[in-house]
Amino acid sequence: MAGWGRMVGFERDMRRDLMDKVRINSETILYPMPCSIVGTLVEKKPNYLAVAWFSMVNFKPLWIAIALNKVHYSNGGIKESGAFSVNIPSADMVVVTDYCGIVSGRKYDKSKEFETFYGESGDAPMIKECPYNIECRLINVVDLPSNELFIGEVLTVYSDERYLTEGVPDMKKVNPLVLSMPERSYLTLGGRVAAAWETGGRLVRK
Ligand SMILES: Cc1cc2nc3c(=O)[nH]c(=O)nc-3n(C[C@H](O)[C@H](O)[C@H](O)COP(=O)(O)O)c2cc1C
Repeated sequence: MAGWGRMVGFERDMRRDLMDKVRINSETILYPMPCSIVGTLVEKKPNYLAVAWFSMVNFKPLWIAIALNKVHYSNGGIKESGAFSVNIPSADMVVVTDYCGIVSGRKYDKSKEFETFYGESGDAPMIKECPYNIECRLINVVDLPSNELFIGEVLTVYSDERYLTEGVPDMKKVNPLVLSMPERSYLTLGGRVAAAWETGGRLVRK
């Protein structure tokens, strides 16, 4: 009996450990997320929208993807022009970034807020004020239930000299915006923690 009692007690403890976890809203599971402003030509005029759902998806050639809800004005423009840009705003551009994410180009000319420039393709409007800009050629559109996944090949990445250290973007200088969807808040990055692709090496045993 004593053994049985101990066993039941053990199982109860296990259950209690699992119950220390609570279920959270799965709509906002991936966070924090970097923020960008995506540019495209819609009816030959530049339009910009805030995009946090973007990622590198292929290494060689270098492809990135942005996931846009089908309702947006920008989607038609990307398909029509075959090009888009991903512009990385710094924290001091938070107001204009949010603005690009709450109003539609159907009603507002968001391009008035920026100085637009074009790169080698001539079809992807980019934002001069952003620390760096990724110019993409549309490769494919994946039709998802509520979104369209636009896959683009990176043609060129542009930056201003003042955001670079030894030729690469320096995040202390760029000071990018990070979105926490569950908190409905913009954050900035904390400091450097360790060297990537290096620090785990101390756990590799020969
Ligand atoms: C910070 C932020 C991030 C956003 N990220 C995305 C996103 O990744 N995908 C998306 O479809 N909409 C996203 N949105 C919403 C669009 O930017 C917004 O609906 C915009 O007004 C659409 O513009 P358009 O109609 O001119 O294309 C985001 C909004 C904000 C504020």
